[in-house]
Amino acid sequence: MAVIFAVANQKGGVGKTTTSVNLAASLAAAEVSVLLVDCDPQGNATSGTGVSRGTVERSTYDVLLGQCTLAEAIVSTPVKGLDIVPATQDLVAAELELVDLADRATRLRAALETLGDRYDFVILDCPPSLGLLTVNALSAADRVIVPLQCEYFALEGLTHLMATIDRIKGAFNPDLAVEGVVLTMFDGRNSLTHQVADEVRDHFRVYSTVIPRNVRLSEAPSHGVPALLYDAQSRGAQAYLGLAREILESFPKKEPEPEKAREPSPEEPEQAAEPEPEKPAKPARPAKGGAKASAKAERKAG
Ligand SMILES: Nc1ncnc2c1ncn2[C@@H]1O[C@H](COP(=O)(O)OP(=O)(O)OP(=O)(O)O)[C@@H](O)[C@H]1O
Ligand SMILES: [Mg+2]
Repeated sequence: MAVIFAVANQKGGVGKTTTSVNLAASLAAAEVSVLLVDCDPQGNATSGTGVSRGTVERSTYDVLLGQCTLAEAIVSTPVKGLDIVPATQDLVAAELELVDLADRATRLRAALETLGDRYDFVILDCPPSLGLLTVNALSAADRVIVPLQCEYFALEGLTHLMATIDRIKGAFNPDLAVEGVVLTMFDGRNSLTHQVADEVRDHFRVYSTVIPRNVRLSEAPSHGVPALLYDAQSRGAQAYLGLAREILESFPKKEPEPEKAREPSPEEPEQAAEPEPEKPAKPARPAKGGAKASAKAERKAG
């Protein structure tokens, strides 16, 4: 199963989408496969990865409402190894339409479970609210990455997010935890920035990579590409590469298990040499969904 990160902070404009898009692209550049799921009706992650909202046929809305499978909604992006499930304005309606459904909080998780091991990482770009879309993302996620701008009320906002995370833990996702806080639009010349950063460090793991305020990061979306494809040498693109490296240290890429050719053991040379003619011997593979089922069972047990 993929490692699923929700990029969340109910405060608007703190760099959730910039982080989702550029972290996803930077992970993909490290040759892991990444799926970005746009969970925000604003669709900024969608347009920021070159998917024009007008051309979207199936979106996160359709997935949540059961109108298509997650696999059917996936489209590729200009970044090798990065796919996206796009979002459009329709997603606003999902908040209302989901309310009456019994499994309203866990629909995204159920959809992601159908992907098996197709991706190494899934990144969920959350909207600036703690409504059902964010709840779906938090119920589906293994870990939360919190982009934070070092402003005066930043920590107060985190308190609300933590309360929501605790609620989701209790109700749907016992293993959910904050993986780390990433400081965005960082301006080291401002002394308040350092005060806030120190205070956040007292309570959370803060990534040592900070994302500087960098104009390339704000220009890239209008070209429909992550900063890495717009200006790879820019400080913004390089910072997100650094963040991806930190995350890969905590979640190293799983090497595919080599398919072991069954060597004949000295005790049974006859059997190995003569497979039954009608049923050619196949290497044993776990049933599809086996890993998924056991992960799910673990999650339930935990
Ligand atoms: N490090 C940065 N340097 C310069 N501009 C940035 C940086 N990070 C984000 N921005 C810009 O700040 C604005 C808000 O960023 P972004 O859209 O990523 O925030 P968000 O948290 O996803 O917003 P929303 O809450 O509306 O979804 C955008 O215009 C973006 O281009
Ligand atoms: Mg956003």
